[in-house]
Amino acid sequence: MRILAFETSCDETAAAVVEDGTRILSNIVASQIDIHRRYGGIVPEVASRQHVLSIVPVYQEALDSSGLSLGDIDRVAVTHGPGLAGSLLVGVNFAKALAASRGLPLFGVNHMEAHVYANWLAFPTPPEDDSRFPALCLIVSGGHTELQLMRAHGHYQLLGRTRDDAAGEAFDKAARLLDLGYPGGPVIEKAALQATDRLSLPRAWLPGTCDFSFSGVKTALWHLINREELLNQPNLAANAAASFQDAVVDVLVGKTLRAAEDFGATCILLSGGVAANSSLRDRLSQDSPIDVFIPPRSFCTDNAAMVAACSYFSGGPASPGGPGLDVEPGLSL
Ligand code: KG4
Ligand code: ZN
Repeated sequence: MRILAFETSCDETAAAVVEDGTRILSNIVASQIDIHRRYGGIVPEVASRQHVLSIVPVYQEALDSSGLSLGDIDRVAVTHGPGLAGSLLVGVNFAKALAASRGLPLFGVNHMEAHVYANWLAFPTPPEDDSRFPALCLIVSGGHTELQLMRAHGHYQLLGRTRDDAAGEAFDKAARLLDLGYPGGPVIEKAALQATDRLSLPRAWLPGTCDFSFSGVKTALWHLINREELLNQPNLAANAAASFQDAVVDVLVGKTLRAAEDFGATCILLSGGVAANSSLRDRLSQDSPIDVFIPPRSFCTDNAAMVAACSYFSGGPASPGGPGLDVEPGLSL
């Protein structure tokens, strides 16, 4: 089964062709980061206009570099939520028109679930059979932070989510406070490498729940870097970046391992843009007594190959779309 997939939920215009859910024939991502960087964050109207400009060339490049023609494609899949409404509309309408013009089946895919399936694009693949379920999924992106118990392909139980900022959003806001640039995750990670000391920041454990909260540590960071006695501390930005990263990673790893034990997970699947963070990848892998699967960094941030993998494996929320498929900006898993 050859799936042509599209992803336009945020600020990446992406198209990919994937065979049988795991074999990537092409994977094209046009990032808008350089455009949004000058505003310090994503401007939704700018993002949707940029998707309109990029979708045709990205689609063409994905098809050309796959070595296939449209006649070889068996299914079209597209992210239809959650995400920015105007951005989702571009991908969904393009995929709809393409599918209708060739009489191809069209599948809508949940962006959060697609992140989880990035794990199936790498080897060794995680659950190949039911014996690897239940798997605990930590999904950490710019818009979401969730712990989902995956009992089978397409079947999820929400264990916990952030009560305020998503982990990626927290990195982005912290980087802005530290004047390090955008997007926050990569620049905080880079700055943290230069740290010579650690500063004290709180961790919100929210005991007895699988929920997260990251707004407090961000506010604490703001107060910390404005403390008079620290203002002239050499290397303050790097030390603060490392301390902030430690605080976020501590909570993500600690709560994930606790949930894995409480719910009898056989493995952990990390995914989402924040899963590109080396400290999170290393700590989770080192501290976990059960197998941890993490996609290669390029599959952690938004791409369309994961959308194709999700459409292939999941019989759940990625239900057949058809001409009635619409965007669902607030879609949950
Ligand atoms: O999954 P993603 O590409 O888009 C959404 O679905 O939101 O995630 C983007 C988020 C941004 O907040 C970005 O700062 C964060 O992922 N991110 C990172 C790293 N690379 C990207 N966070 C921490 N460390 C990184 N290396
Ligand atoms: Zn994403």
